[in-house]
This record gives sequence, structure tokens and C-alpha cells, in this order.
Amino acid sequence: MSIISSDISKAVKLLSNEELVAIPTETVYGLAGNIYSEKAIKAIFETKQRPLFNPLIVHIPSVEYLENIVDDIPEKAQLLAEAFWPGPITLVLKKKATIPDLITAGKDTVAVRMPNHPVALKLLSELDFPLAAPSANPFNRISPTTAQHVENYFKDAIKMVLEGGSCERGIESTIIGFENDEPIIYRLGSTSIEAIEEVVGKIEIKNSSAERGRSQKEIAPDAPGMLERHYAPTTKTILTGNLIDAIKAHKNLRIGLLTYNDFLDDDAIDFKIVLSENNNLEEAASKLYDALHQLDKQNLDIIIAEKLPDYGLGKSINDRLLRASKS
Ligand code: TXA
Ligand code: MG
Repeated sequence: MSIISSDISKAVKLLSNEELVAIPTETVYGLAGNIYSEKAIKAIFETKQRPLFNPLIVHIPSVEYLENIVDDIPEKAQLLAEAFWPGPITLVLKKKATIPDLITAGKDTVAVRMPNHPVALKLLSELDFPLAAPSANPFNRISPTTAQHVENYFKDAIKMVLEGGSCERGIESTIIGFENDEPIIYRLGSTSIEAIEEVVGKIEIKNSSAERGRSQKEIAPDAPGMLERHYAPTTKTILTGNLIDAIKAHKNLRIGLLTYNDFLDDDAIDFKIVLSENNNLEEAASKLYDALHQLDKQNLDIIIAEKLPDYGLGKSINDRLLRASKS
């Protein structure tokens, strides 16, 4: 029997009983539990096989609720919350003493966001606790953007996936931390840097391990979303700016192609997905993970992914594809 259901009151009951429920958000589906239940939070880490050093995002029902989670709100954090919530920005701020260490992996900061999805907001408004929710995929696998993706991963391990359709944004929230009250990007995501800079001015991206060219697999980075290999299909994946040469180099293999807008046709290609025929980066982001889920099911030898333009959401998509291509 399917564990997918639209019954919000059932989700309320399960969550109030310290059980896990996968929930829809505008970015990806999350595997949610009561932040104050040690049982639920431990179950999130176990179900995802996620290392305990990788902290969780707390999901709240309103901008005002932020005061219950964090101690100090820098001016630019307040501006960002007001400009983008509900929406795909996560703020990492000094945590209140009442926020359990298990959520924050012992750090004195906590990641918080108000999701922009009617089902998630309705659910949060009916609960008397916030929800911790990492993306609802096993550690290092592709994030889920439909209820079906979650069921495929976890049908024997959780009781319910709350149906919310396919996620409109399709890649995770942009994570912003604060150093001396100045914002800094910890993880690229569904809100573009350009949009953020319109609100708070120039903003840096925290140097990722990919940029430094060395592995951080063994240590806990500031935002472990920056772990090198992440968001990965099980099929070997390469990222390239030159599709034609990459296809030539692998023409004896079963090739899956993931392109931005290219209608390239080649007999060597076994399966192809075009992310946006109209050159629309928002559309490409919303389709990215479903495309990777589909490609991963085709018994291919290799997925050749095309680099997108390096601005707006193209930057965030390239970040995910680069991580998917690390072996
Ligand atoms: O869009 C999203 O953000 C989705 C939906 C479900 O809300 N959630 C999500 O969660 O992507 P997750 O757990 O897959 O990624 C959360 C990231 C991790 O990389 C984690 O390391 C980082 O947030 N994070 C959490 N708390 C942190 C903290 N105190 N300091 C730095 N990074 C933190
Ligand atoms: Mg994740």
C-alpha cells in the first residue's frame, strides 16, 4: 500500500506522536520531525543514514516565529527574512539555549527557514512545535521533488509522505550565515545571488571545498551541503561545456544526455532530457532533480550533463551538477 496521503490531520497526529512524516516544500521534499523530540530527530539521522555532525534546518510557520528559535537577529538577517520568507532562503543564526544540540550538531548556530508551500504552512500552523527537515533522500543521493521520489526511497522506513505535488523551485534553499553580522552564502540554492544582493548588497560565497580543490569528506565543514560529492545519481556523471567532444569520447557506452536547451541529436545518445527549451533557468532548476532521477533509472553507463550559464540559478544548478559528478 502507498504511504502517500493528502491527509494533513494524519500528519499532525504522527508528528505529535514523535513519528517522521515526509513533507512537501517549494524546494524539495523534507523528512520532518518535532525539533524537541529526541526520538524523532534520531530517527531522521538514522533513516537518512546521515552523519550526526551534519546539522538540520528548522522550519517555522512565520517570520515572527524566528524570535523563538534564535537569540540575536542581525539587521541584514531581518531584511532577508522579510524580503524572502516564505521562501527558499535559510538563515544560520545564534541559537537559543532551548534548541536541542542534536539539531545543530553541537554548534551554537541554528539554520532556520519559513517554507513557501501551502501544505507545509498549513501543517506548521497546526503544530505547536517547529519541524526539523533535511531533504528526504538517503545521505548523498538525489533530493526528491515529488512524493513518489520519497516513497521510492523510504517506503519501508516511514509511515507517511504528505502529498504536495511536484516542488515548484526544485533545488534546495540558499543558505546564508553571518560573520560579524555580515551575510555570507554557505550554500547556493533556489534564491539567486543577484536577488539577495538587491536586498543586502554585495555578498561572498563561503569558499567551498570544490574551489579549494581538496577533499573535505572527513571533516565537518561549515555547511556540510558543501560536502564534495552530494546530490549524486548512482550512474557515473560528467559535467562539460563541450557536449560534442564528450559524446565522441564515450560513444561506445550507453549515454544519457542532460542539456539546458540544446536540441543536439546524435545516434550515440540513448536517452536525452532537455531542461528548458526556452532558455529559462527557473524552469531548468525545477526540472533538474526529476531529470537526474529519470536518467538514473535508464541503465546507462554514463550521464553527460551540460554546464549551464554561470549566473542566476544557473550558478546553483552548476553547483549541484558539479557535486553530482565527483566520484
Ligand atoms: O530547501 C531546503 O533547504 C530543504 C527543504 C526540505 O527545506 N532542506 C535541506 O536540508 O536541504 P538538508 O539537511 O538537506 O541541508 C541542510 C544544510 C546542510 O548542508 C547543513 O549542513 C546546513 O544546512 N546547516 C544546517 N545547520 C547549519 C548550521 N548551524 N551551520 C551551518 N550549516 C548548517
Ligand atoms: Mg540534502
